[in-house]
Amino acid sequence: MQKILVTGAVGQIGSELIMELRKRYGNNNVVAGVHRTQPGEKLTNSGPCETVDCTNVEQLNSVVKKYNFDTIYHLAAILSAVAEEKPNLAWNVNINGLYNVLEVAREQGCAVFTPSSIGAFGESTPLDNTPQDTIQRPSTMYGVTKVAGELLCDYYFKRFGVDTRGVRYPGIISNETLPGGGTTDYAVEIYYEAIKNKKYTCNLGKGTYLDMMYMPDAIKAAIDLMEADPAKLKHRNAFNVTTMSFDPEKIAASIKKIIPEFVLNYDVDPVRQAIANSWPNSMDDSDAREEWGWNPEYDLEAMTKDMLEVLSKKLK
Ligand code: SER
Repeated sequence: MQKILVTGAVGQIGSELIMELRKRYGNNNVVAGVHRTQPGEKLTNSGPCETVDCTNVEQLNSVVKKYNFDTIYHLAAILSAVAEEKPNLAWNVNINGLYNVLEVAREQGCAVFTPSSIGAFGESTPLDNTPQDTIQRPSTMYGVTKVAGELLCDYYFKRFGVDTRGVRYPGIISNETLPGGGTTDYAVEIYYEAIKNKKYTCNLGKGTYLDMMYMPDAIKAAIDLMEADPAKLKHRNAFNVTTMSFDPEKIAASIKKIIPEFVLNYDVDPVRQAIANSWPNSMDDSDAREEWGWNPEYDLEAMTKDMLEVLSKKLK
């Protein structure tokens, strides 16, 4: 990787991935593709920023030509809860946007990283120890776009030789940028509220187990996969990756070890609950471990300790 574009650079993952990429590959070699949300000073002061709307193929094409990118981390996407509210927008961004990125990558010889998600599974998937290759019949627009995206990336690799790679991210927990309308957002908000108010009202019910991951591991997954020896990759796109599985009670218990007075209440949102019920409780990520050495660092206790330390300074 010499010259890298990150779309969705202001988003939850993008805002942190870009700083790590700039550290590794040089500030001027990593361009932040931004759209709608204005980038903060951290992004603009540390390297180039360009307006990139992935649904506008001409604009995308001219930015990729201008910098002669060899790699695109395509993170611009609509998350699950927003996609249920605005299915049309989700289709346009998640499918047409990805299609444009793949076409530009094909024409200009770029490798492409695209995140899929636990949302690519559905009720008929085995939800415990969910295999890498299994039934995928999601019941959400987000899931439909994620499955189609996985297939499209596979197609561009097989048909045109575009070096496409990707992982199925679980819920991502981070302390820099808030997620934008996902089903797993509670697992971020709970830490902010624990610091601010020592209590939190959760929109998913007790016993809702989902795969989760702390941001440093999510970044590691993306970069490690893009740097992996392609000869060893059998799957390429949509690798299951996870680091922990918990329900609201378990994350609350880990917070209570550090903030004993913390109280968890529930006010279940039926839309988010239905989405969560159709997603895996825990995925099997052994193929990622075997094919490219996926080896995460944070478990729930280590993540909680770090989140509370960082946020208590940030929210002072
Ligand atoms: N965190 C995402 C969401 O909840 C899952 O990919 O939409």
